[in-house]
Amino acid sequence: MSRKTWAAVDDYIVDSLFAADPALDAVLAANTEQGPPAIDVSPAQGKMLSLLARIQGAKKILEIGTLGGYSTIWMARALPAGGKIVTLELDPHHAKVARSNFERAGVSARVDLRLGPALQSLVALGAENAGPFDLVFIDADKPNNPNYLSWAMRLSRPGTVIVCDNVIRDGAVLEEDGHDANVEGARAAFSFIGSDKRLDGTAIQTVGAKGYDGFAIAIVN
Ligand code: SAH
Ligand code: DHB
Ligand code: MG
Repeated sequence: MSRKTWAAVDDYIVDSLFAADPALDAVLAANTEQGPPAIDVSPAQGKMLSLLARIQGAKKILEIGTLGGYSTIWMARALPAGGKIVTLELDPHHAKVARSNFERAGVSARVDLRLGPALQSLVALGAENAGPFDLVFIDADKPNNPNYLSWAMRLSRPGTVIVCDNVIRDGAVLEEDGHDANVEGARAAFSFIGSDKRLDGTAIQTVGAKGYDGFAIAIVN
């Protein structure tokens, strides 16, 4: 079984289950054209985030790591009237591309994009009493995973769902040598979720268009 098969099966999932979506196709095309790296969630993962938001009845969502806003748009579309997604991005160019994508997808009114280091934006959100969020998606610089999880807890309520992307990394999550900061970040997410008594979590390994990776998902008790 190869990455080619995984990608073809991802196409099959989309073709079989998703309505045609020119708006989201245009978002990915704009990202490719304007430069952010193609590390957005896959369409199947984006739809999973949107379904999770609906299952959760999320009205307030926090995303850490916007890139071109592809995952943001999936979650924004799942919000009820009056719902909001706050999304945090460090890179001004990514933020600019994302803002134009939010316009293109018609979700700008529901999205609060905050430019700057996420840890600074999180301090501000705490000071504003912006929480509690119903769903938190962590998908930024992996070494900060424990800091982001810690903030997610501070901005949560019992029942908040936290999803953390890229925690398997081709199975490199098993490597204990500390040579790769991203792998260390993945391992730090496992140790955080495993040791915080308020969190009940699991992780799901995934294959698909983005290769072999996975996400952790946890609920706050
Ligand atoms: N969630 C996006 C992908 C995010 S990629 C999607 O699926 O469509 C990770 C993003 O995190 C990049 O845009 C990167 O610029 C941003 N990032 C990296 N370090 C950050 C930091 N310290 N604060 C905020 N964003 C950061
Ligand atoms: C990388 C980051 C991501 O958020 C992702 O989904 C895939 C890869 C990376 O930095 O390599
Ligand atoms: Mg990711």
